[in-house]
Amino acid sequence: MKGIILAGGKGTRLSPLTTVTNKHLLPVGKEPMIYNPIRQLISCGIKEILIVTSTVHMGDMVNLLGSGYNFGVDFTYKVQEEAKGIAHALLLSENFAGGDSICVILGDNIATKSISSYVREFENQKEGAKALLRKVSDPERYGVAALDEHKIIEIQEKPSKPKSNYAVIGYYMYDEQVFNIIRAQDYSARGELEITDVNNAYIKKGQLTYGILKGEWTDAGTLESFWYANEIMREVDNRIGD
Ligand code: DAU
Repeated sequence: MKGIILAGGKGTRLSPLTTVTNKHLLPVGKEPMIYNPIRQLISCGIKEILIVTSTVHMGDMVNLLGSGYNFGVDFTYKVQEEAKGIAHALLLSENFAGGDSICVILGDNIATKSISSYVREFENQKEGAKALLRKVSDPERYGVAALDEHKIIEIQEKPSKPKSNYAVIGYYMYDEQVFNIIRAQDYSARGELEITDVNNAYIKKGQLTYGILKGEWTDAGTLESFWYANEIMREVDNRIGD
């Protein structure tokens, strides 16, 4: 399995912190934000990692991370010219994936526990995808999963009337079908290729499983959540537990 970290986008909700730098390079605890998804993939035994980011900040990203030697892994980099959505960024990883299954992390998702048990479950799944969920108090901010006892029935992106409190968070596992699924998609009303549409396509095939992430978690895309990300990372000294 290969790892992909999506670290493009504009980070406008954190402006002016993001005026001259990329959101994923901002400090969270004692490290830049992107270290957490990197450590997460490493905790799953993944050694080949693609980082997708915007043209303007690619130089800083490479200056910070280099070849991956210091982490004991290999980094590959890919430029997303325009912030046209999470699925648009993911499509850039097709050659890198080379037919393998992939574990995708949104670069602003911060967690204190390893997702390795879910990655192992996915490796035993014959085909399809797996998404991680988390109960939240403000589901309107996320992709929200409507659940029955065993499976996700549907995901709605930032619904005004959420059908549950379960957010689909930024950890996804996909088989090689994902790229054809993205190619068949249309841009959403906000002009993006949406990851929620990708996950709904897997639901239609009956091939999306889910797990509920343990430990502390937040995205760090708003000022409040960015502060919270700093709190939880300071508490664990930026380590990821089992
Ligand atoms: O954090 C979980 C949520 O992330 C999910 O619940 C939503 O379903 C999903 O759409 C996403 O929502 P956000 O509104 O938080 O997405 P945002 O635009 O902040 O992008 C999240 C990350 O994806 C960001 O850290 C960088 C990356 N990204 C985003 C865009 C739009 C890219 O690499 N390229 C892009 O074009």
